[in-house]
Amino acid sequence: MSHDWWKQAVFYEIYVRSFHDASGDGIGDLGGIIERLDYLNDGTPRSLGVDALWLTPINPSPMFDFGYDVSDYTAVDPLFGSLGDLDRLLAEAHRRGMRVILDLVPNHTSHLHAWFVESRAARTAAKRDWYVWRDPAADGGPPNNWVSSFGGPAWTFDAATGQYYLHSFLAEQPDLNWRNPAVVAAMEEALCFWLARGVDGFRVDVIHKLIKDAALRDNPPPDERDPHPLRDYFGQRHVFDHDQPEVHDIIRAWRRLLDRHGDRMMVGEVYLLDPARVAAYHGVADDELPLAFNFSFQWTPWDAAQFRQRVQEVERLWPAGAQPTYVLSSHDAPRHATRFDDPVHGDARARVAALMLLTLRGTPFLYYGEELGLRDGEIPPARICDPVGKRFPALGRDPARTPMPWDASPQAGFSSGEPWLPLAADWRTVNVAAQRDDPTSLLSFYRRLLWWRKTAPAVLYGSLRVLDAPQGTFVYAREGGGQQLVVALNFTAEPRALQLPGGGRVALSTQAARAAQCDAALTLAPNEGLIVEAAAPPRRPWHDAAASVSAQEI
Ligand code: GLC
Repeated sequence: MSHDWWKQAVFYEIYVRSFHDASGDGIGDLGGIIERLDYLNDGTPRSLGVDALWLTPINPSPMFDFGYDVSDYTAVDPLFGSLGDLDRLLAEAHRRGMRVILDLVPNHTSHLHAWFVESRAARTAAKRDWYVWRDPAADGGPPNNWVSSFGGPAWTFDAATGQYYLHSFLAEQPDLNWRNPAVVAAMEEALCFWLARGVDGFRVDVIHKLIKDAALRDNPPPDERDPHPLRDYFGQRHVFDHDQPEVHDIIRAWRRLLDRHGDRMMVGEVYLLDPARVAAYHGVADDELPLAFNFSFQWTPWDAAQFRQRVQEVERLWPAGAQPTYVLSSHDAPRHATRFDDPVHGDARARVAALMLLTLRGTPFLYYGEELGLRDGEIPPARICDPVGKRFPALGRDPARTPMPWDASPQAGFSSGEPWLPLAADWRTVNVAAQRDDPTSLLSFYRRLLWWRKTAPAVLYGSLRVLDAPQGTFVYAREGGGQQLVVALNFTAEPRALQLPGGGRVALSTQAARAAQCDAALTLAPNEGLIVEAAAPPRRPWHDAAASVSAQEI
């Protein structure tokens, strides 16, 4: 049984611009978050009950990529508040028993960061080698064929000094040269600065991209295993521009640094499609990332067999002792209420999804507003802010970043000014005030689930065993701390008969009408998710019974 807090915690991602605006300029800020802390966790089941907050970048930034282009690593952008506000937020969150982690963006800086300004000043500049500069190819073009994640070449020519610089994202986000020890030392200073202020850890942006091939070799063309080339980024295999072996040395050093500061953690964004590659970032001796994001649910359609497969992959591939993570929504992808939209059954799928997310073996990450069933907003072309959306409207990330709807007052209680992005279309009904006192609301369901989870040792510490189950369902046992649970999820809109290893007490169901006890033979209602707790320890552990489960399909 591990007592690392981040293994038992439920994290809540706050897209800071969109959570709550206290200053009235239409952009969310730290003061706004402080005002809403009681909503997140006031120590009672009246509140949501999350354990840790991840704040998207709050550093000064010219906002070409909305904070993921940092111009000063040890300050707070005045748009969001001040260092004093952050201190207050940390104190207020800690007082309520919540941890706070900050977003660290080490792969690239803003082109306006003093380091880059100095680096681009001259080929002989002291900081020239802090970034990746190269001469043009023989034909005058970029040094190699690498493509930016946001489209177009990953190189921009700097006429003043006659060389190209590398940028994995926008030209306004030059990549730092992580083979330069001075860069490693400078970022370590930034980490220590925030740790000394009392932050509980970091979400580390695109950590797998820090190191590139030393010889900057061309990426090879794609093969049939690669995803459809939706954008030019997928028109090549990313063999040399990320996921290089030397990145693990940097991560190990950060892990040692965090460990020296006690109870701190980091969760790395390892945005790789192959789960085995993601798993590798925990390190062979569990000495690298304490947590790595596993985004696989974000690209899984509403299908029980596919979710089961994603979970089995994690169970198979994650090194022993390493803690998995699960994510349904984030600031980079369409919201799952939209992806799994079912106009006939309302938020039934969102409930099943929540039950799954919060009972798997791993640390769950919620995204602000998912507890309300918030859907993607409609962004008129003239209001597109996201640089990806400007280049590829169908892939824009603004729809998932609309302001949190707090109530039905003007601007949804988000701001007294004009919000930086339009409110989601159904904000008058999908908002906190409308759901808070309604025991049947999705918000109330999340609250029940989150507060129940804190009391369930099998979920917090236990093993997971996938059970045989009829087509369209996903059923697993969680066992630990003297507790035995079965979670049964029906992904279909029809009833499904199941044979569980035993009957028991219904700890939670997405169906209000479900009785408090159930037998081993039971029928899941359409779109029902259910947690059953063994009434008394069965003669054999439930997972041993898996082989004998012979549920029939109706
Ligand atoms: C990560 C962030 C994303 C950002 C990109 C560049 O993927 O989550 O929002 O645009 O890195 O920093």
